[in-house]
Amino acid sequence: MSIDFSALWEQYGTPLYIYDFDKIAKNYHTFKDAFAGDKSLISYAVKANSNLSVIKHLGKQGAGADCVSIGEVRRALSSGIEPYKIIFSGVGKKDSEIAEALQEEILMLNLESEAEMKRVEQVAEKLNKTARISIRINPNVDAKTHPYISTGLHENKFGVEIDMGKRMYIYAKNSKFLDPVGIHFHIGSQLTDLAPIAEAAQIVADLTRSLKAIGVKIKFFDVGGGIGIRYNDEQVIDPDAYAEAISKATKGLDVTLVCELGRSLVGDAGYLLSSVLYEKQNGNRRFVIVDAAMNDLLRPTLYKAYHRVELLGENSGEVSEADIVGPICESGDWLAKSVSLPATKHNDLMVVHSVGAYGFTMASNYNTRGRAAEVAILEGKSRVIRDREVFEDQVRLEAKHL
Ligand code: LLP
Repeated sequence: MSIDFSALWEQYGTPLYIYDFDKIAKNYHTFKDAFAGDKSLISYAVKANSNLSVIKHLGKQGAGADCVSIGEVRRALSSGIEPYKIIFSGVGKKDSEIAEALQEEILMLNLESEAEMKRVEQVAEKLNKTARISIRINPNVDAKTHPYISTGLHENKFGVEIDMGKRMYIYAKNSKFLDPVGIHFHIGSQLTDLAPIAEAAQIVADLTRSLKAIGVKIKFFDVGGGIGIRYNDEQVIDPDAYAEAISKATKGLDVTLVCELGRSLVGDAGYLLSSVLYEKQNGNRRFVIVDAAMNDLLRPTLYKAYHRVELLGENSGEVSEADIVGPICESGDWLAKSVSLPATKHNDLMVVHSVGAYGFTMASNYNTRGRAAEVAILEGKSRVIRDREVFEDQVRLEAKHL
């Protein structure tokens, strides 16, 4: 679908996040269909884009939700996701979060340490409930991605080693207040190589077999998320090959396969529209200053991530390299480096591509900049799904204390 960015600019202004809801649905069904031969649940990793309308849209397609805070669990519930499709993960859950998740009767809590398991048991006992849990296994597999988003090695804080996992399952099986229904791993994000995922799936499937043999009734095999998308020229993992590798590793296990996909469902469906403010030249460096900044999109600053930037309209003239930067007072405030562009003028429009995941959710109010508005496009029609933040929104919790 081609998007009329200048009409959106006229209607909503910039900076503006735009999500193609048809694309999100298509991405979801591509993965769901790939798993057609197995029982499967795609639990959308809400952290990628937690706008209520995005969650609701995926929920309508059939998705569940993978959440890492009680705030995300509440978002999922408020967006109409059924509790039995909600998973609560994360290394540091608080008692109050555990209690609320148990009371909401979500599908399961993914646990990441023995200490956490004991807390969950105590909280469940107090509520006189049995907590459905799964344990995150750290398979010590190198996912070969950016070190900040690699999670499957023992040097990372995530999950537990296999031996510890076994002990935890045996403990949980014998506890009146714990029901170990699932097993989990997640080795990293923006993965472009299937081999480490297949290897991890094999390791965890073997563990599942030995646990089943001693009477631990595992029903959910949760392979995490992490499927990468094409930002530049990356080779991406084919959804059918992905499903096949997991299906093969888990053959005969009689489990529901769970995927916690985030980026691969929403990443390439998002655009950040911004307006050119000025151009300047410092020495031999050319800068194009736009009205979106690192507070709107942190990935370039944080990970040196590449996002394609496109200048709209018909600018002619000589092309030269420029850095696309925002108005924030940090040298790290850039959206793209060394982009070949003709001369730009005030109010030319620029689109940053593939920002549907970890774009808005990592946005901040740094420099007292209001966060961008968000717009959804479905079947050619656009609508606001989050208002542009105004000054009053930002000072609300402070102004009363003056
Ligand atoms: N499950 C778990 C346990 C996770 O930690 C994550 C992501 C996911 C699922 C979803 O992964 P996805 O399918 O989206 O790759 N801010 C970084 C990404 C951080 C990912 C954190 N965990 C970025 O902008 O690249």
